[in-house]
Amino acid sequence: MMKITKLSPNVGAEVTGIDLRQPVDEATRRRLNEAVVENVALVVRDQSFTPEQFLAAATLFGEPMERDLKDYSLPGVPFVHPVSSHHKSKDGTRIKVGARWHSDHTNHLYPPKYTVLYAVELPESGGNTNVANTRAGYAALPEDIKRRIDGMQTANVIVGSAVRAQKAAFDSDRVKWQEREKPEPVLQPLVRTNPDNGTKALYFHPNKVENIVGMGPEESQSLLNDLLERAVKPEFVYSHKWRMGDMFLWDNRSALHKAGFDYDENQHRLLHRVLIKGERPH
Ligand SMILES: [Fe+2]
Repeated sequence: MMKITKLSPNVGAEVTGIDLRQPVDEATRRRLNEAVVENVALVVRDQSFTPEQFLAAATLFGEPMERDLKDYSLPGVPFVHPVSSHHKSKDGTRIKVGARWHSDHTNHLYPPKYTVLYAVELPESGGNTNVANTRAGYAALPEDIKRRIDGMQTANVIVGSAVRAQKAAFDSDRVKWQEREKPEPVLQPLVRTNPDNGTKALYFHPNKVENIVGMGPEESQSLLNDLLERAVKPEFVYSHKWRMGDMFLWDNRSALHKAGFDYDENQHRLLHRVLIKGERPH
């Protein structure tokens, strides 16, 4: 029997007693989807997937979408993206992907509503995936700040100029791609409404923000940092300590996430990722 248990009052729930390789009926599928929206993050324990089975399980939550850097998809299963601690850019630099609080693919008009991960190889300890409930974080902001930021829009590129200027944080493959393609900035609301429950949440990827409309790049980054400091409180964060067999997903419309890099870098942390298509943020 499937059981869903809250992991903390504000964020995170655990699902046990279900094998997602088996057919899932419509009522169960709906309960799982409602549990992600309600709890923001959901871990389904004790799964055993091939990449194809993982993809099939992830599609219980919607349609998969392709990633930006398609070269880094899993050969033969393009909707599955390896997320490896040994990942290097083409110039040989090792990159800590996702080390800052962010939301995925905000440079897309239709960014993913859910991000789904599955553990393939884990370090002995550390390497948690952290999810912050930014619906709770937004609700806890002082009213004058809410009034100030409601209606603000971020202009999203691949790597923003203020972040590029800091040198350390960016990935040269992404910068090259930006220089080659020169994509038009995509505007996203800084405060986003989740269409499934009408709640508002902070929504951004600091590295992808060129600027907030009407503000300069540096000034925009300091506002985002200030919002993170105010809104990402320990009681709103679920730090997922991985176990083999975990499938872990969260609702990008109500969350920011980041990876922990607090483990021996000779050990390999490999997750598989599927992004689930979302609606146009508003
Ligand atoms: Fe991410």
